[in-house]
Amino acid sequence: MSSGHTIVMGVSGGIAAYKAVDVVSRLKKAGCNVYVIMTKSATEFVTPLTFREISGNPVITDMWEEPKTWNVQHIALASRADLFLIVPATANVIGKIAGGIADDMLTTTVMATTAPVVLAPAMNTNMFLNPITQQNLAKLKGIGYHIIEPASGMLACGIEGSGRLPEPAVIVEKIISLLHTRHALSGKRLLVTAAGTREPIDPVRFLGNRSSGKMGYALAQAAAARGAEVILVSGPSSLPTPPGITVKRVETAAEMREAVLAEFDTVDIVIKAAAVADYRPELAAEQKIKKTGDTLTLNLVKNPDILRELGQRKKQQLLIGFAAETEDLMAHAHEKLINKNLDMIVANDVTLPGAGFNIDTNIVKVIHKNGVVEELPQLSKYQVAEIIIDKICAMLTKST
Ligand code: PMT
Repeated sequence: MSSGHTIVMGVSGGIAAYKAVDVVSRLKKAGCNVYVIMTKSATEFVTPLTFREISGNPVITDMWEEPKTWNVQHIALASRADLFLIVPATANVIGKIAGGIADDMLTTTVMATTAPVVLAPAMNTNMFLNPITQQNLAKLKGIGYHIIEPASGMLACGIEGSGRLPEPAVIVEKIISLLHTRHALSGKRLLVTAAGTREPIDPVRFLGNRSSGKMGYALAQAAAARGAEVILVSGPSSLPTPPGITVKRVETAAEMREAVLAEFDTVDIVIKAAAVADYRPELAAEQKIKKTGDTLTLNLVKNPDILRELGQRKKQQLLIGFAAETEDLMAHAHEKLINKNLDMIVANDVTLPGAGFNIDTNIVKVIHKNGVVEELPQLSKYQVAEIIIDKICAMLTKST
């Protein structure tokens, strides 16, 4: 049972809209409070009255109608949602959301929500397999939308293939399980480091690396989506500040160490996805270094290994590290897991296409403290982040 959760359910215009009625009914039986928003074309398939009767709440079909209960309806509903579900999600609505178009009540409300969004696509097979639809779905998955894969079978258009809306029971089961994990990290403080450090050479130059922050920011967002209080210690990154997350911006490894240590005693979990420079110039020149000789020698000194220090200091905290390797991935990652006293390490071979620095996907192997290794396929960084957060939740459950 899922008593008291508020689900905002969008219904878009496809023949599977009739099955959405059963979804609402099952969600109600599971104890959820359901508000339905219909697109104009959805009302051609099922009447708003049907959804009003089943949900017991007013149904919104028009952005401009007199508000019945809420002041600015789309904002009020968007912030009331514990979860946002669209059943069926047509190619048109998926495309609009992926393209940032908000031109009706459904798309404006999705845009304004911070709740997890679940789409259950249903459409003709060719429309579903069309690369445009597939790219739109991949884009939405990449930024954390949950997609319930359509089933295969005979479609209303007479074609056999994928594109069928899964059975309402399957959709509702997924929703209930998401609602349960949504608060899995409530009451936990989690610190993530992201992006690369910059070690100054002179006032205009630095030693740096190619880390964009994408992996670390995805982890911060996935943890916040499970209810954790998240502190993101970030090196320079062009990514926007994620909503609801405290961001501490740093530049050098020394600054990152200071920011991390300031929080360490009060956090439950640390994930170090940042690419920290192992060495820095011994002296940063006060003035821009002039071009004089044919060669220039920089004297580098070792930076503190922040993660290793955390491993020595740790009490109850879970410590998760990353290993970015170009050779002997497993041997090096395993060595770091042991030497830095970690609970888990995420190893990425950054030479693989689709893995590593400054792209939207990653290919990782997760190595647990007990030596168990799990290999993940190429996934969006957000999907990788969700799997890592799942594993952290499982570790916390085991330790209680
Ligand atoms: O930011 P993106 O563009 O999305 O790229 C993601 C990523 C490739 C940077 C990420 O997936 C990743 O692998 N991060 C770790 C990069 C790294 O520095 O790995 P490492 O093997 O050198 O370090 C091992 C671990 O020790 C890391 O958790 C690192 O944060 C930590 N470390 C390293 C050196 C140091 N002086 N202090 C540290 O804390």
